[in-house]
Amino acid sequence: ASSGTVVVAIDGPAGSGKSSVSKQAARRLGYGYLDTGAAYRALAWHALEHGVDTSDAASVLDVVGDFAFGIALDPDAYGVRVGEADVTEAIREPRVSDAVSGVARVPAVRESVNAMFRTLVDSSGYPGVIVEGRDITTVVAPDAPVRILLTAAPEVRAARRAGEVSTHDAASVAAALHKRDAADSTVVDFMTAAPGVVVVDSTDLDFDGTVDAVLDVVRAQLALD
Ligand code: DC
Repeated sequence: ASSGTVVVAIDGPAGSGKSSVSKQAARRLGYGYLDTGAAYRALAWHALEHGVDTSDAASVLDVVGDFAFGIALDPDAYGVRVGEADVTEAIREPRVSDAVSGVARVPAVRESVNAMFRTLVDSSGYPGVIVEGRDITTVVAPDAPVRILLTAAPEVRAARRAGEVSTHDAASVAAALHKRDAADSTVVDFMTAAPGVVVVDSTDLDFDGTVDAVLDVVRAQLALD
């Protein structure tokens, strides 16, 4: 970013461990952590609050104007706001997960949130920010000095998601995950690494192993030690 803030861009599908790994890597580096999916979720929440049909792009655009998004970049104080409302928990509700792809599909929405992300990074006050999402390595920060695609085998991702949500119906979790991957894939390709993007496959790694693998890439790319 123009402010001199180092951007570590991390993309990947749901269940890749992206959010928790990015947060922990940020702690270890003394960096901020920006969860871009939270912005799309918060906008979906905001649209639902206004009774908007989130499958209708024009209606979604109507509520972007008064979308007052706030997010803490401190990895130890994660929190998401819309105006005065703390939506940290609410944006994880299934009704939001079901609506979010519709919101994220609108190009003008993406342009608007991408501008927000760049402002958040530039004014973060951190030496660096780990920015995590689906199109960070390709669209939001294609010039970032560190760009990583975090992947995992589909069955491993589904199993991780099933452990995260309070259901033991692994099959329905897998079905929901694959449905959302398919919907999200029509917007951005987050399954293949763009040129210069380093793939970290967490299929056979535990949480700490994945964090270490990400930090190894960061150090190599930034030539730190
Ligand atoms: O990572 P997540 O599940 O919280 O993301 C929520 C939704 O937002 C998901 O459906 C994909 C979308 N998204 C996106 O299109 N681009 C991003 N940079 C981040 C998320």
